Amino acid sequence: MAKILVTGGSGYIGSHTLVDLIGNGYEVISVDNNSRSNPIILEGVEKITGSKIKNYKVDLCNYDDTFAIFQENADIEGIIHFAAYKAVGESVELPLMYFENNLVSLINLLKCVQEFKIPYFVFSSSCTVYGNPDETPVTESTPLKQAESPYGYTKQISEQIINSFAKTTNTRFILLRYFNPVGAHPTTLIGEMPIGKPQNLVPAITQTAIGKLPIMTVFGNDYETRDGSCVRDFIHVCDIAHAHTLSLDQLKSNPETASCQVFNLGTGKGITVLEAIAAFEKVSGHTLNYIIGPRRDGDVISIYANNSAARQILNWNPQYSLDDMMGTAWRWEKRLKTDEKIFNGKPAELN
Ligand code: WQD
Repeated sequence: MAKILVTGGSGYIGSHTLVDLIGNGYEVISVDNNSRSNPIILEGVEKITGSKIKNYKVDLCNYDDTFAIFQENADIEGIIHFAAYKAVGESVELPLMYFENNLVSLINLLKCVQEFKIPYFVFSSSCTVYGNPDETPVTESTPLKQAESPYGYTKQISEQIINSFAKTTNTRFILLRYFNPVGAHPTTLIGEMPIGKPQNLVPAITQTAIGKLPIMTVFGNDYETRDGSCVRDFIHVCDIAHAHTLSLDQLKSNPETASCQVFNLGTGKGITVLEAIAAFEKVSGHTLNYIIGPRRDGDVISIYANNSAARQILNWNPQYSLDDMMGTAWRWEKRLKTDEKIFNGKPAELN
C-alpha cells in the first residue's frame, strides 16, 4: 500500500483529502503543527475512516525536524503539500511572514524529496495565480497576471520553484489550482474551521445565519457582471479532495507523463456572490442578514475554470452541486454550534 505524506492534514482540504485517500486504499501520515488548524479535526477523519492517523506536529520551516520525518518513514512514496498560510487580507498586512512560511516550508520539503528520491509530489495551488484574467473561463495556459496579494505571489513563486526543480529530478509533480473550495463532508464530522472572523464568503454566510456574526457585507455590487457582484467558481471540498487521489493514481500509472503537470479544479460554472447567497437562503430556509458595502481591495472581478484537462487526464468529474455545497456547509455550521464544547479548543489566534 503506498504511503503518502500529507502536510496540513488537520486543515480544511487536507483533512478531506486524508479521508479520500484512505477510502481509496492509500496509507497516510500527516504533518501539521496546528498553527492554523485544530487537531480535533483528525478525530473526525478517524471516525469517518476507522483508521488511526499519525500526525507529526512539526513546523516544515525547520529543516532538521522535517528531514527526521523522512528518516523515520523510508516508505513514503508520495507527498501532498497543503500546509501554508492562506488568508489573502492577512498576507497584505504581513507579507514577510507569508513569504517566509510558504516558501521556506516548500523548499525544505523539496530538499527532502531530492534527498530521499520521493517519486510523486502534488502541490496545493490556487486560481489566485491567474490574477485578474482578461477573459474567462481560464485554462491552464491562460497567461498569469500580476497576483492580487502576497498570498497569491507565494503560489505563483511556489509553482515556479517546482517547475524549475522538476527539470532536475525524476520526481514527478502535479500542481492543482483550486478555485473556491466550499462545503463540508456529508457526514458532518469534518469541515472548515476558520480562525477568527471568516475572510471567505461561505463561512461568513453560515456564521451570519447561525448568529455568530450579526451581519455580513457583500463587498460591492457595482462590478461589470450580471448582477454587479463578483463571479467565482465554487467547488465542493470533497470534489477537490478526490482530485488529489486521482492525481496520485495518474502519476503512479502513467510514468511517461511530463515532469510537472497543472490542472484547474473548478466546476466550470461562474456563480455570483449574490447568487451564492440566494442558493444558501433556498437550501437553509434562512433569510441572510447582509448589506452591500464597498469593494474589497484585491478582489478579482470574475474568474471561473475551464476544467476539461482535469476531466480528460485525471478522469475527474465533480459530483457536488451548489445546493450540496451550501447544504453541507450549513449542516457543519450547525454542528459546530451544538458541539461547541468539543470544538472549543481553538487553535492559536492569527499571529
Ligand atoms: C469570494 C467572493 C468577495 C466574504 C480566496 C483565495 C483563494 C482561496 C479562496 C485558499 C469575493 C466576496 C467574501 C464576505 C463578500 N484561498 N465576499 N463578503 O477571495 O475569491 O479567494 O479564498 O484556498 O486562493 O484567493 O474567496 O471567499 O474570500 O471571496 O462579499 O464576507 O466573496 O468579495 O468577491 P476569494 P472569498
